Amino acid sequence: MNTPTLPEQGRPETEVLDDLKDFARDDPDYRNQRLWSLVYHLDEGHDDFAASAYRQYASANGLNPAAFQSLKRMESEIVAMVCGLLNAGPDGCGVLTAGGTESCLMAVKTYRDMARKTRGVHRPNMVIPATAHVAWFKAAEYFGVTPRLLPMNAELATDITRLNRRIDRNTVMVLGSAPEYPHGTIDPIAAMGEIAARRRVPLHIDACVGGMILPFMAMNGVDLPAWDFRVPGVTSMSADLHKYGYTSKGASLILYRNLDLLKHQMFVYQDWPGGVFASPALLGTRPGGAYASAWAVMQKLGVNGYRDLAARTTEAVEALKTGIAAIEGLRILGNPQGPLLSFGAADRAISIFAVADQLEARGWSVNRVQNPDGIHAMVTARHRDVTHQYLSDLAESVATVRADPELARSGGAATYGMMAHVPLRGMVRAKVLDVFSEMYRAGGGKLHLDDQTRPSLPERLMARYVDWKARRG
Ligand SMILES: Cc1ncc(COP(=O)(O)O)c(C=O)c1O
Repeated sequence: MNTPTLPEQGRPETEVLDDLKDFARDDPDYRNQRLWSLVYHLDEGHDDFAASAYRQYASANGLNPAAFQSLKRMESEIVAMVCGLLNAGPDGCGVLTAGGTESCLMAVKTYRDMARKTRGVHRPNMVIPATAHVAWFKAAEYFGVTPRLLPMNAELATDITRLNRRIDRNTVMVLGSAPEYPHGTIDPIAAMGEIAARRRVPLHIDACVGGMILPFMAMNGVDLPAWDFRVPGVTSMSADLHKYGYTSKGASLILYRNLDLLKHQMFVYQDWPGGVFASPALLGTRPGGAYASAWAVMQKLGVNGYRDLAARTTEAVEALKTGIAAIEGLRILGNPQGPLLSFGAADRAISIFAVADQLEARGWSVNRVQNPDGIHAMVTARHRDVTHQYLSDLAESVATVRADPELARSGGAATYGMMAHVPLRGMVRAKVLDVFSEMYRAGGGKLHLDDQTRPSLPERLMARYVDWKARRG
């Protein structure tokens, strides 16, 4: 394919819009609930409503809160509504961000800067569970804060017996998740809060997944452990609106217990020739459309709407848990208590990555987790409509894999298995970096982990591994 250039002549709008429709041809089929991540879809009517709210403010810019008072109003109201849901207390405050990752990045920046300013910490570390979302590892790298990991115990829960020892005078924050991404387990937040408070270290709760669904599950009578600002040691939380808030993409919150904490997040530069500048988070220009969509969707759904969505999600999750437990050879990983779960193989005859390939052959989009290996599902209210079909395809996939052990050594199963288990982790990193960067060449395209013209990625990794072993004797 030639590298695209800007068309010399502008093109008719209808033709351009038709192209856009056409581009989506091979995208995951989220409208029929075939996808178990990335999209939180209700129906076309909901999408149209969110899009029309977005459209009204698509050009508006939240960069300067004094300019678009409308956007500042929406942001303040959204912050207040979610502070209320998460029990932030009378001094709760926060900022609308463009997504969960931005919210997590901001928390790390805030606590790094706070520790530097108030305690003179110059070699910061933070204590985070091994199951923390990868955004926290990104934040660690971006902001120069060393992550100290809390490992998983045998039940795949965060082992907090080590938390107290991991904290030292350079610890700028502790993290818990509600729930964590890999298995959907809610960390032992009450116990973490107690230790963090005693050691006077801030505790952030990553509720990017749970923030807009756990409160409604609790209202529906689901028994959940303490996980929000009601735990005294919790100083801040992140909560995504564009996940279980069912708003358009580009909306999340970073919330603090008080302004003294939030102040360390702010950026102010008074000597810029462009003018005195203040910014609350990572972005400069901030998308007004995402604010409007978030505000509008929250008004439209209200507590009742969210409770109904949470109830349907709980039903879907419970149906999946029961159905998966009933398939011989599978087991649920960890202790999922919210809207997401993972499952893996319960016996050695089953390669879960081969099961994933079989599900994909049956038209499902599958997300994989590793160590332990598993299949991951972010369950939404609409998945209740497809759990029966999914479980039936899953049972069939497991039977196919059991009958043909070769399936574990071919296709995606071989690639993902090798990437998860080859001991040379630096080599996996370097290889993925190469392949991934290649996608960003101007006009670059798809991710080809398995280039057919060369030995496959697992073959190349295995060859390098064998070579390395040989050199080490
Ligand atoms: C627990 C958790 N935190 C943070 C994030 C990052 O959110 P985003 O993808 O909106 O940047 C995710 C995304 O799945 C998540 O599950």
